[in-house]
Amino acid sequence: MTSVIVIGAQWGDEGKGKITDYLAGQADMVLRCQGGSNAGHTIVANGQKYALHLIPSGILNPDTACVVGNGVVLDLKVVLDEIEMLKAQGLSVKNLVISDKAHIIMPYHYIMDEYQESLKGDKKIGTTKRGIGPAYMDKTARQGIRLLDLLAWEPFLEKLEYNLREKNIIFECAGLPVISGEAKEQLIAEYAAYREQIMPYVGETVYLVNEALQARKKLLFEGAQGSLLDLDHGTYPYVTSSNTVAAGSCTGVGIGPTAINRVLGIAKAYCTRVGEGPFPTELIDDMGEKIRSLGGEFGVTTGRPRRVGWFDSVVVRYSALVNGMTDLCITKLDILDTLPEIKICTAYRCNGEIITRMPSTLEALAECTPVYETLPGWLCDTTECRMFRDLPVNAQKYILRLEELVGLPVSMVAVGAERDSTIVRREMF
Ligand code: IMP
Repeated sequence: MTSVIVIGAQWGDEGKGKITDYLAGQADMVLRCQGGSNAGHTIVANGQKYALHLIPSGILNPDTACVVGNGVVLDLKVVLDEIEMLKAQGLSVKNLVISDKAHIIMPYHYIMDEYQESLKGDKKIGTTKRGIGPAYMDKTARQGIRLLDLLAWEPFLEKLEYNLREKNIIFECAGLPVISGEAKEQLIAEYAAYREQIMPYVGETVYLVNEALQARKKLLFEGAQGSLLDLDHGTYPYVTSSNTVAAGSCTGVGIGPTAINRVLGIAKAYCTRVGEGPFPTELIDDMGEKIRSLGGEFGVTTGRPRRVGWFDSVVVRYSALVNGMTDLCITKLDILDTLPEIKICTAYRCNGEIITRMPSTLEALAECTPVYETLPGWLCDTTECRMFRDLPVNAQKYILRLEELVGLPVSMVAVGAERDSTIVRREMF
């Protein structure tokens, strides 16, 4: 039995989709465990680019089972569009199973997301406005609608009735259009159509996944968002509404922590963040602009320009801790190919003190300024490198320094978006 969790070690967009797709060729099953269509995982394989939000990035491998677990919040329109997009490109989706316990994102969750953000004013989180927070709120309030309700239909109508009653009170107070009469009938008709289309893909996944474990299959868990966006361990409240750390993968599909062998943290060779919230190494200058443009740092889901900064080893060390990481993968190394000098944040200076741990309050974090170490760049193309020894010496030194600062082996390095632009130093399966 080998189970590997792929997890974001920064604020998301680290390249988990590419690495999951690469490793999926060796896995029997790929699983999404939390989050929803706020995630945007880009895969480039055989010259074709795929942007996936909900379907596991293993779907390009016809022999790999793909599971969307109970921990995911599901936008039915997005997942059905994604299925159609894959089919139109000649890909098979017959290996896709979605947990009947997954909660459904409803149109009123989108409205609530938008409304809550507008109320927060300059304290807004900068959400993806995909209804993620409000859907998880209904889940924890024990009034969410699950796929199994939709399939049974009567429970769907009953729960919808309750939820609309509650949401309409809020909408009325907020001066927003209520969902009643014709709008409600339209919503019911829309979901009746989704029900028919999604039915073939819905199943009981807890036994399926545990039986795969017992049969010593190789399981690959595809984390969404990054560890610093975790509801408990991230830069709260500037986080997403699910547990993005490795432990969330267990609850998100219904397996125990003893089933996990390896936790592979994915970190960019620099760092990015979308939305609001602290980002100690952020570059608000020409260098930030340059890296954003070299790295194509614009959100897959929202198209928003990403905030860009230097690699922050305080953040990644903290991530390693809260995830029980065993390995590190550094992505987008090639984006730094043309920089004469590269900085790494080794610690923070906070109220005259040098600290190497993440402070727990945002106020303390706001007081922190990065302590940098500067390394010489390598000023040559790394995109054709396929072995660690092929990398220019300064690029090797950069990776080895990251390894030292984080305290984990860098087992993989990505030097391009294509599946094959990957250097493996230590096999995962
Ligand atoms: P939400 O998940 O849409 O509620 O957004 C909460 C925060 O998480 C915002 O700062 C988003 O920009 C961020 N976020 C959510 N999903 C992703 C992702 O897949 N990549 C990067 N940031 C994300």
